[in-house]
Amino acid sequence: MIYNNKNIVLIGFMGCGKTCVGKRLALKSGLEFIDTDIEIQRRKGITVSKIFENYGEAYFRKMERNLCKQLAFNSGSIIATGGGIIKDEENVYNLKINGVVVYLKSTPEKIYSNLKNNSTRPLLDNTEDKLQTIRKLLFERKWLYEKYNDITFDVTDFTVEQSADLIYNRLWRY
Ligand code: S3P
Repeated sequence: MIYNNKNIVLIGFMGCGKTCVGKRLALKSGLEFIDTDIEIQRRKGITVSKIFENYGEAYFRKMERNLCKQLAFNSGSIIATGGGIIKDEENVYNLKINGVVVYLKSTPEKIYSNLKNNSTRPLLDNTEDKLQTIRKLLFERKWLYEKYNDITFDVTDFTVEQSADLIYNRLWRY
């Protein structure tokens, strides 16, 4: 098993493809797939947008934090994370206990094109200029993705399938 049964933890900005790439990687590798947003939604029984709306961002972040603590005990999973998970150092510490952190890097323009018709991202949906907000948030967070990653893949010019194949070939060759 890859990396002594470690988790593969996908980090990166909203809309860079963590969930889709993660699902495909799980299919290719036969590993279990976990998505932190989906798991939080399952636990609360409502969407991430509704959690933000009804309980506020801080509440969502608390759920994220608790989940990361639990994921520290996981092994051999593909874990797609929410784009803001790296804002809390403790989350990264927990995810790294048994995980290899893979950063899916993309440009604001590509992210915008992926998300322009999507309304499931509360931090982008209530803003006047989505592209500008993506630029601003990515600028604020870029250094965190770069600081915490073990491996980076620039997926800007790749489809989900190509990205997953690239990562698979690279990681499973070890
Ligand atoms: C967020 C990213 C979202 C989700 C929430 C907050 C962020 O996940 O966790 O809307 O702060 O970047 P995706 O990265 O899967 O869109």
